[in-house]
Amino acid sequence: MTNRFMNQTLETRRRLLGRNLSIAYNDPVKVVRGSMQYLYDDEGREYLDAYNNVAHVGHCHPRVVRAGQEQMALLNTNTRYLSDLINEYASRLTSTLPHPLEVCFFVNSGSEANELALRLARSHTNARDLIVLDHAYHGNTTTLIDISPYKHNGPGGSGAPSWVHMVPQPDPYRSTHEDAARGYAQYVSQCIEGMGKSKLCGFIAESMPSVGGQIVLPKDYLALVYKAVRDAGGLCIADEVQTGYGRTGTHFWAFESYEVVPDIVVLGKPIGNGHPLGAVVTTREIADSFNNGMEFFSTFGGNNVSCAIGLEVLQVVIEEQLQAHALRVGGQTIAGLEELKSRHQIIGDVRGSGLFLGVELVRERTTLEPATEEANEVVNRMRDERILLGTDGPYHNVLKIRPPMPFDEGNAERLLKTLDSILSAL
Ligand SMILES: Cc1ncc(COP(=O)(O)O)c(C=O)c1O
Repeated sequence: MTNRFMNQTLETRRRLLGRNLSIAYNDPVKVVRGSMQYLYDDEGREYLDAYNNVAHVGHCHPRVVRAGQEQMALLNTNTRYLSDLINEYASRLTSTLPHPLEVCFFVNSGSEANELALRLARSHTNARDLIVLDHAYHGNTTTLIDISPYKHNGPGGSGAPSWVHMVPQPDPYRSTHEDAARGYAQYVSQCIEGMGKSKLCGFIAESMPSVGGQIVLPKDYLALVYKAVRDAGGLCIADEVQTGYGRTGTHFWAFESYEVVPDIVVLGKPIGNGHPLGAVVTTREIADSFNNGMEFFSTFGGNNVSCAIGLEVLQVVIEEQLQAHALRVGGQTIAGLEELKSRHQIIGDVRGSGLFLGVELVRERTTLEPATEEANEVVNRMRDERILLGTDGPYHNVLKIRPPMPFDEGNAERLLKTLDSILSAL
């Protein structure tokens, strides 16, 4: 319950901070401490975090904290000096990616990484226009709002500029196409035909759209789209900010599950486990096109502390076998959610992979009328039971389950049991 101190915190925040910073839940949570898949509020209560994918290896994972502390006490400077640390980090990172993705750039956020990806694509193609998916979100800068329909077509938005071309988001659940992959890929081909080849710089998509509603793309969609884009001279950018680092369980990178290799991969959120870190990985050829005489420099991007943390996060993911863990616990969670779906009519669809899961709530399974208010209610009641979830998707009716990766079998059981009783009481 909101107490006097909480009201004070809220009031001060409203007075001093921009008011379009949103606050989760009707009854906000004031967290003061985190440990692995748990958060603790100012009264010492524990919450199961089933939502925050940034704390990928766990909130305040001791190895990551130590790596940051030790490097901070030793040196923290920029990329204009030689360092074995950045080389080792780049080497380990590229070893997780398929050939020919072998050149890294380090920045400070997913937004900066997407900005840079766009610059790389434009330098390489000498073209400007970009194809984006409806409902996509790629970051908070001016240009990224331009390529994010979720923002520029949402409240306060003013639409897309003429160089941005939006195609429908491939949504297997709501698809009316007989062959969803081909049906949705066709929009991209039509878009390219309509724009004239020489204008196309590329195509960007999350390998599994998250803001779009935790969507798993139809199996052959990306292969068909990548071919059409490349035939037209464009580059294919995979935004793996939410989906990378083993989260989807079957693969280390979500794009791998569709058997494609992008030209540029964009990384953010989990790679720093909460430390501001973003990266772009591309081919030598594309990186060389970008090396056109203008220096690329980011004051903090690739600094020693960021590299120490980034390297440790990567090693923890691998050594703790978190990808296999996500596959196992995610599989158990999906099976439990499917069982709930068999008893609760409101669950229209259960989807996802590993610990990247979505539960779409609908009022009617035939009309697919979104159960938006109900989804909001569920998330708030789960919060009251101290389990943190969120909603997303074009209709805000998809429950988002995307926990720190240490989320285990017992946590999954608790989430399923609580969700069951909340759905029964709705
Ligand atoms: C898919 C995707 N790309 C890019 C970004 C932007 O990352 P950041 O908030 O670190 O700038 C986000 C952030 O939510 C995201 O979800």
